[in-house]
Amino acid sequence: MNLTELNVVATAMVASGKGILAADESSGTIKKRFDAIGVESTEANRRDYREMLFRSREAMSQYISGVILYDETIWQNAADGTPLVKLIEQSGAIPGIKVDEGTQGLPMCPGELVTVGLDKLAERLRKYYERGARFAKWRAVIDIGSGIPSMTAISVNAHALARYAALCQAAQIVPIVEPEVLMDGDHDIDRCHEVTSRVLNKTFQELRVQRVALEGMVLKPNMAISGKKCARQASVEEVAEKTIRLLKACVPAAVPGIAFLSGGQSDEEATAHLNAMHKLGPLPWGLTFSYGRALQAAPQKAWSGRPENVTAGQNAFSHRARMNGLASRGEWQS
Ligand code: 13P
Repeated sequence: MNLTELNVVATAMVASGKGILAADESSGTIKKRFDAIGVESTEANRRDYREMLFRSREAMSQYISGVILYDETIWQNAADGTPLVKLIEQSGAIPGIKVDEGTQGLPMCPGELVTVGLDKLAERLRKYYERGARFAKWRAVIDIGSGIPSMTAISVNAHALARYAALCQAAQIVPIVEPEVLMDGDHDIDRCHEVTSRVLNKTFQELRVQRVALEGMVLKPNMAISGKKCARQASVEEVAEKTIRLLKACVPAAVPGIAFLSGGQSDEEATAHLNAMHKLGPLPWGLTFSYGRALQAAPQKAWSGRPENVTAGQNAFSHRARMNGLASRGEWQS
């Protein structure tokens, strides 16, 4: 493992003014997104949609540091035969790959999940590296509810994240470590803060035990935020203040960067929260976005599967990328 090179990639992924496009929706998830805009989820349509994003020159060259791909996409070619990975590289962004294989029910823990995909991972990473991937992503899912999360769910997911991260670094790939605490329930922001703190502490404990080099990884956490169904929705300032307090307490300064998931926040909320956090600096790590929905909802709607809407889709994507690029410097204005 060459830690200096891993650190160079991790640092570039969180460069000021830029962030990550999470375009790694599984076949099931992209079908849901396409259903919402009345587009059939065929391989060709998925390719056309993602090609549209990767050919958005303004967004890709100025505001996007890296793109997380799904397995199908990393092997696909654009309509003119250029590999999609090459389009990303040519724009100056770094290709990455989602390598977890989704979640399964956790035995003995009703309602809780564990992320799977460690079998043969070393072999898959080698192939992805050859194809051009320089970072990877693994998402663990922790739900908040009555009596959950259990320490069992937190431990097994942290263990798997660390196993994955160590395998990535051995394959010269920067791991994005993503322990997502869901915002789906009716819990308040303080409960989210408390659970996320337990999850992050356990995750970093496992990363240390398994000898992962913190300088060669990126953390992708949720923000400390009110559950969607909570009667009291915390303000932008409260989310920013509690998230930064949480991260300062749990994330060592050796980690080059933190890139948030949007997790179901509206486009504007996700931008406003990131922006407000940068008003609380200086911060010990790079702090930016790794949004899926908050970057893609607008372009999906503008495109709606019609070739004549490609420019409109690209404009919508570039706008959101620019807004989040500004937020990653604390320079966004509503
Ligand atoms: P969202 O921003 O839509 O939460 O997606 C980010 C992601 O990559 C989740 O794994």
